Amino acid sequence: MTQPHAHSPQHYGHDHAGIAPLLDLDAEVLHEALFAITNTLRAARDGQRTRRVLDLGAGTGTGTMALAERFPRADIYALDRSEQMLDLVRSKAFFRGIPERVHTVRADLDDVWPAFEPFDVAWASLSLHEVADPDRVFENILAALAPGGLLAVVEMDTRPFVLPDDLGLGTPGLEARIHTAVAPARAPMNLHPDWTDALVRAGFTDVARHRFEIAPSPQALARFASGPTPGERASVLARYAHTSLLRLRDAAWPGLNQEDRDTLDILLAADGPHSLLNRGDLTVNGTRSLWLARRP
Ligand SMILES: C[S@@+](CC[C@H](N)C(=O)[O-])C[C@H]1O[C@@H](n2cnc3c(N)ncnc32)[C@H](O)[C@@H]1O
Repeated sequence: MTQPHAHSPQHYGHDHAGIAPLLDLDAEVLHEALFAITNTLRAARDGQRTRRVLDLGAGTGTGTMALAERFPRADIYALDRSEQMLDLVRSKAFFRGIPERVHTVRADLDDVWPAFEPFDVAWASLSLHEVADPDRVFENILAALAPGGLLAVVEMDTRPFVLPDDLGLGTPGLEARIHTAVAPARAPMNLHPDWTDALVRAGFTDVARHRFEIAPSPQALARFASGPTPGERASVLARYAHTSLLRLRDAAWPGLNQEDRDTLDILLAADGPHSLLNRGDLTVNGTRSLWLARRP
């Protein structure tokens, strides 16, 4: 991973493939919440057979794999416009021993959609806030579902908080100021509108919003990897905090004062007592929303 150099925000790009490590860490942090979310989706299927599932904007395949586990008799179609993301999905399917059930589709949701056989379930996690015309995309999803089919949309309600208010360094409240500074820049994984009205407008019924706490167990967060650098050896939580704040750095930079910039760079340093990779006072706090909607 690229390590920060003090006062050189130009080092941090926001290309699409660059988000892959954060998405994979997100999957680890989200594991328990994702279980609850897919449980709610499966319960809403009410015992109906689920044979075909479409994951829209699949990224590195977090949802694809969770759906494959939840619907063990289904074929999962992972759609993304990025071939690099789809490569990652294919290798995950291979390592999990389910390559024959996971299909990848390279397509742009903003273009004309490929012709599909009807799906029982469509899933879109952290992807619909990126499309150009959500109304048109919702109409296309409705058309891609079989009658009675379900759409599940998942979004972050707020950016997750990972830092304690008082870091013992700089002025307390840094993370809230970072979030405020990022908001106007619309950095990746930005916030989303409430999709309820758009779903109803598109013709979905039984539209309901559910909220899920992201409160991973200490065991899930404490897992360590092995590797030669402190970054590679850090816990899931430390790597998640480091990777997510590193990703916000560019967008937040112009809106932070010099003291906050200095503090952020100390946190993002590859090592040192205050580095995120070495701190013992990190947490993950946040919520995600799930919208369930049915094709009549
Ligand atoms: C933030 S990632 C979320 C990935 C995954 N669903 C998850 O929850 O971890 C958004 C994904 O949507 C894809 N995406 C964004 N706009 C898209 C579009 N118009 N057509 C197809 N894929 C798109 C991106 O390439 C990226 O992989």
